[in-house]
Amino acid sequence: MTALTLSTAAAPGLRADAIVIGVAKGAASRSGGLVVAPGAEAVDKAYDGKLAGVLETLGASGAEGEVTKLPAPSGFKTPLVVAVGLGPEPEKDSSFDAEALRRAAGTAARALNGAKKAAFALPLADAADAGAVAEGALLGAYSFDAYKENGKDPKKGKAPLAEVALLGGKPRDRAYKAAVERALAVSEELNRARDLINTPPNDLYPEAFAAVVQAAGKEHGLKVQVLDDKALVKGGYGGILGVGGGSEAKPRLVKLSYTSSKAKKHLALVGKGITYDSGGISLKPAGHNETMKCDMSGAAAVFAAVVAVARLGLEVNVTGWLALAENMPSGSAVRPGDVLRMYSGKTVEVLNTDAEGRLVLADALWAASEEKPDAIVDVATLTGAMMLALGSRTYGIMANDDAFRTAVHEAAEEVGEPAWPMPLPEHLRKGMDSPTADIANMGERMGGGLVAGLFLREFVGEGITWAHLDIAGPAFNEGGPFGYTPKGGTGTAVRTLVRLAELTAAGDLG
Ligand code: BES
Ligand code: MN
Ligand code: ZN
Repeated sequence: MTALTLSTAAAPGLRADAIVIGVAKGAASRSGGLVVAPGAEAVDKAYDGKLAGVLETLGASGAEGEVTKLPAPSGFKTPLVVAVGLGPEPEKDSSFDAEALRRAAGTAARALNGAKKAAFALPLADAADAGAVAEGALLGAYSFDAYKENGKDPKKGKAPLAEVALLGGKPRDRAYKAAVERALAVSEELNRARDLINTPPNDLYPEAFAAVVQAAGKEHGLKVQVLDDKALVKGGYGGILGVGGGSEAKPRLVKLSYTSSKAKKHLALVGKGITYDSGGISLKPAGHNETMKCDMSGAAAVFAAVVAVARLGLEVNVTGWLALAENMPSGSAVRPGDVLRMYSGKTVEVLNTDAEGRLVLADALWAASEEKPDAIVDVATLTGAMMLALGSRTYGIMANDDAFRTAVHEAAEEVGEPAWPMPLPEHLRKGMDSPTADIANMGERMGGGLVAGLFLREFVGEGITWAHLDIAGPAFNEGGPFGYTPKGGTGTAVRTLVRLAELTAAGDLG
């Protein structure tokens, strides 16, 4: 994992492989040309104040995602300057947006793959900006090489940037130190979630996932309880058992609890953990199953968030529930037409075995509800429909409480995770009426993401505030990397969940 320090070293004397500076598109009201962002003064001075012109000659415009490399001026102990685009220059008297800094830091970190140490001299207006740059750099410096030759021997490939020195902050200031500590805890756990998502399903099956959680629980003093298939039968978890029944790899329900002696509130997080979604008997066609190892991204996000909360020692109780199963077709698989008796006691007619996420979540939501937490948030790669609605970078938020849905949306926005509120239209509920059981696991095709949300709502305990995050779009990046987002598993929702725990601890939520 990349190391991170707040550094006081002045730019010319600092020893590193590169120094990262920010450039922006100047406001049209002024020249409109490229602007060198604050933080790069020493570099600009060494270029006789002509750095903006030099960079423009090299084709730089300051656009987001742009990287321009140039040799460092003489006298610098750092050979390379990396100028990264921050997008439009902020209005007069305001500073760069934290998310612009986070993305630029991530872009720069990716451009420095293979380097040992880089100094980041991006514009920091306050401690939160230092946290954003730290987070962007640590999240950008990610690669998943465990299954490649260079995973065993880093010399054979380009390992991610090993060390980040943040310049321009206040290394002795408590707020700066706390912001960087937070960034480190969140980014490290988020990167671990990415590793889990990227791990192929032949190695990451429910039992293996549960073992990873148990090890992390030991390391961080968290209580971990694992219900294996026998315990699930005994407990009557018909949803998880039904979905997991077709696989040789048996399902698990993992409960991971963080408790603080100073907690006044209890937040429950529930994650969909389908370690592979073949669709089951309602088999997915080729072209729709190659990335379905990502179907445990919700559980990975919940796991990472609970560990990060523990590392930060937040004054709130947080319980994570991971509903782990592999959805496979076989002679023991659930059939379209089967009726499952769920943990809540309700019966569900399974019309499509590919609508499996809602079945495992239903049991976990009911289990979470039994403890009467102040709020429940579930996270799931639940529907292709949500992807069609919001695209591949934005997740949908549904809730049984408008104010809570707004609060979750605001938290997502604050941490830089694109999300959007979605409704739960009552008229869609009757589409799930079943002639045989209490409810069917499918309804109208139109608005499929909302139908899934309405199904989940039936398994939330009476009077409990609940939100559902459908992360099917942004959980797994099939395109090229951008900002601090790599190809593959993204770790979407981890940062929203940590923020929600912080807000709950502060008494501002639930
Ligand atoms: N895991 C999928 C949803 C998904 C699709 C996640 C694409 C990420 C990318 C989910 O289990 C599923 O198959 N949903 C079905 C539901 C339908 C059968 C009602 C879907 O969206 O097609
Ligand atoms: Mn499915
Ligand atoms: Zn699925």
